[in-house]
Amino acid sequence: MATQPQPFLSTNRYAVVTGGNKGIGLEICRQLAQKGVTVILTSRDEKRGLQALQDIENSGFSNVIFHRLDVSDVSTIPPLFDFVNKQFGRIDILVNNAGILGTAVDPDIMTRETQKVGGEFPFDEVHWKEISKDSYELAEECLRTNYYGAKAMIEAFLPLLQLSTSPRIVNVSSTLGTLQFIPGEWLKKTLNDPDTLTEEKVEEILKTFLEEFKAGNLREKGYPPHISAYKMAKASLNAYSRILAKKLPSVQVNCVCPGFVRSDIVAGNGLLSPTEGAESAVRLAVRSEEGPTGRFYFRMEVADF
Ligand SMILES: NC(=O)c1ccc[n+]([C@@H]2O[C@H](COP(=O)([O-])OP(=O)(O)OC[C@H]3O[C@@H](n4cnc5c(N)ncnc54)[C@H](OP(=O)(O)O)[C@@H]3O)[C@@H](O)[C@H]2O)c1
Repeated sequence: MATQPQPFLSTNRYAVVTGGNKGIGLEICRQLAQKGVTVILTSRDEKRGLQALQDIENSGFSNVIFHRLDVSDVSTIPPLFDFVNKQFGRIDILVNNAGILGTAVDPDIMTRETQKVGGEFPFDEVHWKEISKDSYELAEECLRTNYYGAKAMIEAFLPLLQLSTSPRIVNVSSTLGTLQFIPGEWLKKTLNDPDTLTEEKVEEILKTFLEEFKAGNLREKGYPPHISAYKMAKASLNAYSRILAKKLPSVQVNCVCPGFVRSDIVAGNGLLSPTEGAESAVRLAVRSEEGPTGRFYFRMEVADF
């Protein structure tokens, strides 16, 4: 007789969370700790990370440990890896949450434009022309953090994840990274074809994106004209997750948009609290079912890439 799989949380579980010092990341750490998972809360700033740790300890949980990590600086990954490997010897969950918007936002204008659309996220280009100023430096940093940083963490921690009985990768993505926000048909088609998609193709697109950004050609070449690096980085993270899910069927790899959450990245606007925003990522991290994998979720529901 086939044996029933054990509930995921019936055994000790270990999670690494990036950008755990505030916003959604902090609440992901807190909720995982509340479920009994041992959490390695990481932050690029030691002081902010230790404050976040204190905050979680004050809410009654002692199963959280801090370690420094700047996902945009790959040299900070090996010390974290060595620490986790020595302390725990494996991980069960990697939550790639750290992210930046990659554009300079005026918080007052963001609030004004958000109110114009009834408190919803202002998806429309008309608003973003007012709200933000993109720059090449910020675009580069955005790709380095939101795409290459998450990918470097996955590559580094895969050996420890593969020692788990049920490894999970949760990539905190965004609806802004869905293909509806990429005007170019060939870009959409390339990023949406799981049969032909490769890491090399994704990264060729990002490389060309930066070149066209520098040349001022985004609109003509079919890239998003506003919050462009954020959209491209998250779309690429979604595509990479699909590639990975196909390559590694024993690992659950999913992307999730947490909804429009009141955090610093959106100047405190939003419809959900960080606690509510964290729930969807936490569910994917600890659910008992095996799979599905390679999906994009909007909060709790599967959505289109
Ligand atoms: N809020 C929303 O409405 C919304 C919607 C869709 C998706 N998301 C995604 O949700 C995730 C969390 O964002 P949030 O809303 O909680 O925003 P947030 O409050 O601004 O938090 C972002 C977190 O990422 C960290 N971070 C940024 N760059 C980093 C780096 N190089 N290395 C390590 N950590 C870094 C920040 O650390 P510092 O404190 O050091 O800056 C902070 O802890 C992001 O991936 C974002 O794209 C948010």
